[in-house]
Amino acid sequence: MSHVSESVERALDTLSEVRKGKLDLGWMNANPAGWGVRATPRDERGLGLEDINHVGSYGKVPDEGSHYGSMAPRGSEIPDDMPSLGCYDINDKSLVWADNVAHLYDEAVARQWSSARDIPWDQLKPQREDLEKAMCQVCTNLAEVEFVAGDMPAKWLWHINHDFHEVKCFLASQIFDEARHMEVFRKRALANGGGLLRSSPDSEQLLRVILEAPNFTTGSALMHILGEGFVLTLFRNGEMFALTPVEKKIFRLCMQDEARHVAYGTMHLKYFLEKHPEREEEIHEILSRGEEATFSLNQTQDTVEARAILAGGGLEHIEEGFQKLGYLFKKQINEYLYRLKMAGIERRSRLAIPFELPL
Ligand SMILES: [Fe+2]
Ligand SMILES: [Fe+2]
Repeated sequence: MSHVSESVERALDTLSEVRKGKLDLGWMNANPAGWGVRATPRDERGLGLEDINHVGSYGKVPDEGSHYGSMAPRGSEIPDDMPSLGCYDINDKSLVWADNVAHLYDEAVARQWSSARDIPWDQLKPQREDLEKAMCQVCTNLAEVEFVAGDMPAKWLWHINHDFHEVKCFLASQIFDEARHMEVFRKRALANGGGLLRSSPDSEQLLRVILEAPNFTTGSALMHILGEGFVLTLFRNGEMFALTPVEKKIFRLCMQDEARHVAYGTMHLKYFLEKHPEREEEIHEILSRGEEATFSLNQTQDTVEARAILAGGGLEHIEEGFQKLGYLFKKQINEYLYRLKMAGIERRSRLAIPFELPL
């Protein structure tokens, strides 16, 4: 072996001492208070992340991370020389926590689906050109924007203290959900004789507001409650846009995922505002910017025309389609205001966009 570094040499020395029988075994006596626990599955769903929070002190989530900047698992013994890595610097529980987050992660894992296997692709049928083009334009828009909802959690994930591992696990599940949404809409565009149509410079300009939000909570309010809330209502009404059982199934499965993302965001904002009621105005301000962006995003010409053709059932019924879009928008606004109310924010009098579309 050629020259090795000091650390490799030290590791080789340790290994050779251990092999000579010079055992330490000090780790066996570490963390005595944490020994002797026995987590058991609560029901037929198996041993969930929630279930291991009912044993001893392991479920106690500290308001401040117990060690600043390390990867130490919550509840383990942390040696004095544990380094701070300088990246895990969101150390305050109220900045990321939601009381439903472990449950949502367990649900996310249990309800994963595959766009390869779980969509009845063989039930796609050739469509009239206007309908196929409208579907492909809608899929192009969705494939373009879905991953913002993965990039935003990814941006904050590595800052979060490992004591809040439930939040990290949930955000990781969301990133994977969004990857699947992006690919399922791309697949639909390519699967029935069409293809991708026009991407949207306006959408990208508008969605920057989510990626550039100054902190996790404002980014989450914009994305989980406002943006994904609007998308959730859209998917919930997916029948309005579906041409075949294929799109129905896509919208239904995406809807389940979005419901979790919105549920996390709503409960996170609630937790945050309970701890920091003085910061409500900050949330109102970012929501005003977000509402304007979401409104413009949903009314870009390509998007609104394509959606109206699908909702009406063809170019000749586009008028009827506009009426249905108006109905959908009202629902989006009402559900959005209701979720904010659940989080503790009364927004009706502050809404920065119209309650109804002038259609
Ligand atoms: Fe999504
Ligand atoms: Fe989502």
